[in-house]
Amino acid sequence: MGKTIIISNRLPVQLQISNGTIDAIPSVGGLATGMKSVHSGGESLWVGWSGLTDEETPAALENEIDVALKKHGCAKIKLTEKEIEGFYFGFSNRTVWPLFHYFSEYTEFELEFWNTYKAVNQKFADAIIEKSHDNDTIWVHDYQLMLVPQMVREKRPNTSIGFFLHIPFPSYEIFRTLPWREEVLEGLLGSDLIGFHTYDYERHFLSSVRRLLGLDVSFNDVYLENRVIKVDSFPMGIDYKKFASAAKKHDSNGKDSDLQIKLNSHKQSAPGTKLILSIDRLDYSKGIAKRINAFEYFLNKYPEYKEKVRLIILAVPSRSNVPQYQLLKREIDELVGRINGELSTVNWTPIWYFYRSLPFENLIDLYTSSDIAWLTPLRDGMNLVAKEYIATRTDKTGVLILSEMAGSANEMNEALLINPNNFEEQADTLKTAITMPEEEQISRNTFLQKRLERYNVEVWANEFMGALNRKSEENEPFISQ
Ligand code: ADP
Ligand code: G6P
Repeated sequence: MGKTIIISNRLPVQLQISNGTIDAIPSVGGLATGMKSVHSGGESLWVGWSGLTDEETPAALENEIDVALKKHGCAKIKLTEKEIEGFYFGFSNRTVWPLFHYFSEYTEFELEFWNTYKAVNQKFADAIIEKSHDNDTIWVHDYQLMLVPQMVREKRPNTSIGFFLHIPFPSYEIFRTLPWREEVLEGLLGSDLIGFHTYDYERHFLSSVRRLLGLDVSFNDVYLENRVIKVDSFPMGIDYKKFASAAKKHDSNGKDSDLQIKLNSHKQSAPGTKLILSIDRLDYSKGIAKRINAFEYFLNKYPEYKEKVRLIILAVPSRSNVPQYQLLKREIDELVGRINGELSTVNWTPIWYFYRSLPFENLIDLYTSSDIAWLTPLRDGMNLVAKEYIATRTDKTGVLILSEMAGSANEMNEALLINPNNFEEQADTLKTAITMPEEEQISRNTFLQKRLERYNVEVWANEFMGALNRKSEENEPFISQ
């Protein structure tokens, strides 16, 4: 039995260099936070981009960088500024991300982006081929690396290769607009097993395979000449224990962070005021601007809640070289400024807005102090924040309002599910959440917590790896013929 090699663009840590010293900062985003728990418990090697371009990496620090990454079980792929521009900011985040999240109007089809994407995927594939042996298991992650499975398969026909997509796979009608649609599908089909968060994404993928490549698809198997590829859904879980026990410790240690002091002072100065929390990367798919508008709509529809609720928006800087993200940042700054300007009173600011990444302890402060979590993605592969909020509610109180468009809504029926485009419904749902009796909160969260605890990220990874091993074994005799 060989080792497992995890491969993704984003590593669990990002390196930064300041005054000649290297800092490893935890990465944000579902892939990194979720897979980190799987990786830290096992014998895997994780290969990806360090977060620094070649131009930002002083030659004298190369060795130190390798050592810093090795401490986290990681090895780096070196990428130039130009490669990051075309591959990461370009094809990954100006073509695939908007297209797969149904933002066709933001999608750019640029041949140069595509060519760089291909070249960088080849770089990743070459690195895996160099670092792995035939009996290793290769687990490729996400939309930045969709060509890697086939590129590795060409050189290592017997290796077991799995691929997991952390974002939605769009319907055939959307996917077919991609000029390089066949190449992308063929790239993915180099895997033995392809995993998605939900059955819908799986169905969309199979439909594209059938209609665009004309391949035989039976149930969730795709038949190639010499191999059968399994396609299945594996909804990703969280490290439930980590969140629940951090919240328990937080409740009992009595040492408050600055943020906790501010949250406590809010509670003391305005007893009975409800805190509504939203946490996302600053991304148009998360529906942050619409949420702020819906909050204003709610305060106008139910003015009796003015000074009785506060919305906390924590937005993590993300992909800030992409124009749509810059425009969104400006839009949110203006919206928050305008609404706070118009509605604030001497005792009350309706929205607290933080634009930054926060340490884990502060995330726990926010989760445990908020009466309601309000998450409104317009489209989201999964949304782990929803699961993390529920896991930290040690006394089982708290209300989750969650968009139907998040993959996690499929498994979280006891949450209050909303359509993020429907302001009327959201205003009423906010009122329901604010006035929900504690017994009802406890009863809903008991079900949610049980499910999250049972189907945690470790179970998710084991199920994926188990299915991959079974499929690779079935494919072996065909390949060696
Ligand atoms: P996405 O993967 O699209 O970013 P998810 O909700 O699935 O969305 O995952 C976001 C992850 O990033 C969560 O694990 C969350 O804890 C983490 N995170 C979100 N905001 C912050 C923040 N401000 N600071 C640190 N981590 C954050
Ligand atoms: C989503 C994607 C991940 C990505 C993360 C953060 O979760 O599925 O692949 O790593 O967002 O985005 P970033 O562009 O910073 O890696």
